[in-house]
Amino acid sequence: MVLLLLKLIVLALSLHGYETRTQDSPLAFNYYKETCPLAEEIVRRNVEIAVVRDPRTAASLLRLHFHDCFVMGCDASLLLDSYGVMVSEKQAGPNLDSLRGFEVIDEIKYLLEESCPFTVSCADILAMAARDAVALRGGPRWEVLLGRRDSLEASFDGANQFIPAPNSSLETLIYIFKEQGLDVQDLVALSGSHTMGKARCLSFRQRIYDAEFKETHYDKYKRYTTFRRILRSICPESGKDNTVAPLDFMTPARFDNHYFINILQGNGLLGSDNVLVFQDHTGEIVKQVLAYASDEKLFFASFANSIVKMGNINVLTGTQGEIRKNCRFVNT
Ligand code: HEM
Ligand SMILES: *[C@@H]1O[C@H](CO)[C@@H](O)[C@H](O)[C@H]1NC(C)=O
Repeated sequence: MVLLLLKLIVLALSLHGYETRTQDSPLAFNYYKETCPLAEEIVRRNVEIAVVRDPRTAASLLRLHFHDCFVMGCDASLLLDSYGVMVSEKQAGPNLDSLRGFEVIDEIKYLLEESCPFTVSCADILAMAARDAVALRGGPRWEVLLGRRDSLEASFDGANQFIPAPNSSLETLIYIFKEQGLDVQDLVALSGSHTMGKARCLSFRQRIYDAEFKETHYDKYKRYTTFRRILRSICPESGKDNTVAPLDFMTPARFDNHYFINILQGNGLLGSDNVLVFQDHTGEIVKQVLAYASDEKLFFASFANSIVKMGNINVLTGTQGEIRKNCRFVNT
């Protein structure tokens, strides 16, 4: 009896997920409780179906939320297709031929419009889908803050400017995150997203072939590894730009802390992964990476906190923006 009670308590705790710091947010938990009670359930089920069909979709959906939030805030500006004079963010360098999962969002939006028209924003769908995607691959589950509204425009230039490149220096990464109100700890925790998903040769060729790049990104003992030989065999020096390799070669489809073990060994796939350790002159980041590498729960708690923080970037609320009918177009 006592055991059963204990089990129930543990179950209740695990269902509740990770507590996150949420003061100062204009958003709310259970935002659609009255207006669309099934919203979170509809999103979760459809993310699940999509991920069963193609496991990589989990990674792709998580990335969509990131690329949305870093350009004008979490307002679904990313989802707008080109229309008239407005050029879609999807066409920008970091996104073109790279982002995936838009059809999953379309399907979810369609179902939500059937059950509660003009109620659930596309920006909130991205936040919920990212949360569910992480949980489905074994990562933490957090309460998602909702109530975002959708933008009336997109920013192609913003997407080129604010999404970090895989050959960025640590200094640049820190700067780009700071511009969004995210600190170094958030940068490290959120980089842990590269525990799942894939990148194209185009994104890491410089890291495996360019001698000068290696000088600044790796210590001399880590330049001639087996890992690099494998990557070279997958990606020739030219051509095959769209061939992909897993971001976390140890557990490519799981959301776990292996990313941090990898980068401690210089085995991050992207330059931007390895600079966290190699260009950290303060030792603070390495300390954090070591902590995550040895304590997955700690990483999960930090990740949940940082992604909730990311989900608050410049959100539109109240009468700002609109609730789009179709995530690809503003309402007419
Ligand atoms: C720290 C700076 C970051 C840089 C420079 C960066 C860069 C990249 C690049 C170049 C790719 C591969 C794209 C391709 O080759 O098609 C990628 C994939 C990915 N990124 Fe990041 N990223 C960063 C941070 C983040 C953050 C903060 C998140 C999530 C919160 C994230 C989530 C992902 C995921 C899940 C994938 C795999 C997507 C898939 O398989 O479809 N990244 N990233
Ligand atoms: C990073 O990559 C871009 C695009 O491939 C290239 O134009 C740029 O020169 C590279 N930057 C550095 C610092 O290597």
